[in-house]
Amino acid sequence: MTHIASPSDHDRLLIIDFGSQVTQLIARRLRELNVFCEIHPFNAVTDEFLKDFSPKAVIFSGGPSSVFAEGAPMPPASVFDLGVPILGICYGQQVMMHCLGGHVERGHGTAEFGRAFVTPTGQSLDLLEGWFTTDREQVWMSHGDHVSKIAPGFQVYGTSPNAPFAITGDPARNFYAVQFHPEVHHTPNGARLYENFVRLAGFKGDWTMRAYREEAIAAIREQVGDQKVICGLSGGVDSSVAAVLIHEAIGDQLTCVFVDHGLLRKGEAEEVVTMFRDNYNMPLIHADEQALFLGELDGVSDPETKRRIIGKLFIDVFQKHATAVGDAKFLAQGTLYPDVIESVSFSGGPSVTIKSHHNVGGLPEKMGLKLVEPLRELFKDEVRALGRELGLPASFIGRHPFPGPGLAIRCPGEITREKLAILREADAVYIDQIRRHGLYDEIWQAFVAILPVRTVGVMGDGRTYDFACALRAVTSVDGMTADYYPFTHEFLGETATRIINEVPGINRVTYDITSKPPGTIEWE
Ligand code: XMP
Repeated sequence: MTHIASPSDHDRLLIIDFGSQVTQLIARRLRELNVFCEIHPFNAVTDEFLKDFSPKAVIFSGGPSSVFAEGAPMPPASVFDLGVPILGICYGQQVMMHCLGGHVERGHGTAEFGRAFVTPTGQSLDLLEGWFTTDREQVWMSHGDHVSKIAPGFQVYGTSPNAPFAITGDPARNFYAVQFHPEVHHTPNGARLYENFVRLAGFKGDWTMRAYREEAIAAIREQVGDQKVICGLSGGVDSSVAAVLIHEAIGDQLTCVFVDHGLLRKGEAEEVVTMFRDNYNMPLIHADEQALFLGELDGVSDPETKRRIIGKLFIDVFQKHATAVGDAKFLAQGTLYPDVIESVSFSGGPSVTIKSHHNVGGLPEKMGLKLVEPLRELFKDEVRALGRELGLPASFIGRHPFPGPGLAIRCPGEITREKLAILREADAVYIDQIRRHGLYDEIWQAFVAILPVRTVGVMGDGRTYDFACALRAVTSVDGMTADYYPFTHEFLGETATRIINEVPGINRVTYDITSKPPGTIEWE
């Protein structure tokens, strides 16, 4: 994979991913420091890649492997000759020691998972400036193997009961390695380590949204020239921000296509189309394709089959409407950085694919279009910041994410118009409840799933035999991990009562208290 070109000459930090579940969080901590970074899987980082990428500093992520395993993930040896600062985390520390002449040992009673406390050895280290706020610092550990002998040139700056080499460093070479995870929430002072590291590496911290906006606009103009661009608008934050940014760059050369696949929420199509028509004077095609999508999905209950059908139909429909635009040469997409990482894992990266997220990936080749993806380097909350920078209405920017396959993946089992109508109503009541209680902005995403099961109830003096539904609400930073939202019992009770009273067809309401992992946010 070639690296993603930064729109300008920002100093870049390279994160080499060894498969940790929390590698993304390292990137977040760095972005918070206005440092531009990219994550690349270890097996994509070759000597040529390093030369081309030219990082100003490198971080080795954690990972599930053992350096003893056959074919254990390793960085290219040349990384140590770049002459730039390197920080190794957890498995990254073990790799660094292994490569530079230290020694790693198997667990045998020295594994550490969860909270631990590191105490300083008394030697000073710039990386630790302002770090030990008391005589011990809480950190988060998650390791089986551990370093048993540090590499020549390194010294120990902090120890924990099961990690005698919790913090190690070779200040002369600017190589640092820690056994714990400074990027996670449970290492409360962890951000400070990253701050010190990028300061030592000489980063200017100039990765701001205003700069990004200006550079992205210039890059779009240069890429597109005087050609036409089409953009699939889903009504979600990502494609909307992409559309507004591109519109700002090239005006009427952009045409948006909003596809109503019959799997949208109550009032969604009107909301999106009105928002764009009222606020932006840009060409917009509103394609009503409900009959097509629902027809093809009739009788289908397998989640991946649903996703495949929807993905293919999007391409067909898009192609049909795009021809109306004439000779468009470019397709704009609101692809985000986590999507890029996800697609990296498809091609043999260290993490596993859980479900095939919908995108219009097949389209460009088929239509001979080139991609314009101005959000490819951003995380969700950065896209929201860019949206604010571009002046999108706050209510629109704050909308919960909504998946491309829409209600199809919130309707386990067969999709019918009857179930979709019930689901839309229940979802609207639930979201209304959340808004009334002032909780909308505290929640990353909330929705109702209609379950493929009818249950017996009693209403008035009569028997009912209606659908059960599940409420879902999660907190998350980026959708990669999530926790269920701790509603009060009063809220849940009131919401269940309202849904059952106001939505014919539902007689039972449950609340989904699964976190991600092990669950996913959507039900399919
Ligand atoms: P999961 O269910 O994988 O979802 O935990 C994580 C986030 O991604 C959204 N999602 C999708 N978004 N196309 C999208 O555009 C998809 O196919 C898709 N599947 C899940 C989901 O709503 C959540 O925010």
